[in-house]
Amino acid sequence: MERALIILKPDAVQRGLVGPILSRIEQRGLKLQGLKLMQVTEALARIHYGEHEGKPFFQGLVEYITSAPVVVAVVVGKAGTVEMIRTMVGATNPAKAAPGTIRGDFGVEIGRNLIHASDSPESGERETSIFFDDAELIQQWDRATDAWI
Ligand code: PPS
Repeated sequence: MERALIILKPDAVQRGLVGPILSRIEQRGLKLQGLKLMQVTEALARIHYGEHEGKPFFQGLVEYITSAPVVVAVVVGKAGTVEMIRTMVGATNPAKAAPGTIRGDFGVEIGRNLIHASDSPESGERETSIFFDDAELIQQWDRATDAWI
């Protein structure tokens, strides 16, 4: 099994796109292990995006992610899940993201690109531990549909 952290960024929450985006993830056959609405603090944003510190977009990215509540989720599935979610999310710049992807269907602006998704299984584990305590995750449960996917 492999898991990814996704963040439905402030624009997704403000635009009422939490349901439609989570629907795509669920309908693909992926399973939630954790889900919450939260306000990201500047300190947490700087930890999460630490590898991008010093890049020209860093400060704007921190201001964007801390500007209003986000929805964070841990999503789990078979090996390859992280790559599959990244494909569903689409290119970083929504203006260049393919139709059918989340960014390609709902966004136009790189600074308002709706969703973050872990870029590797290792990042998925690291980011999960940044945003969730173990007690907030339900690691073992079965979806009734699992046998059909
Ligand atoms: S890099 O330099 O290739 O590592 O950057 P990249 O992986 O494309 O993006 C890292 C995160 O920064 C966000 N990003 C931006 N935000 C605002 N404005 C601009 N210009 C910009 N460029 C990149 C990008 O969406 C990534 O954040 P997440 O949350 O992972 O999507």
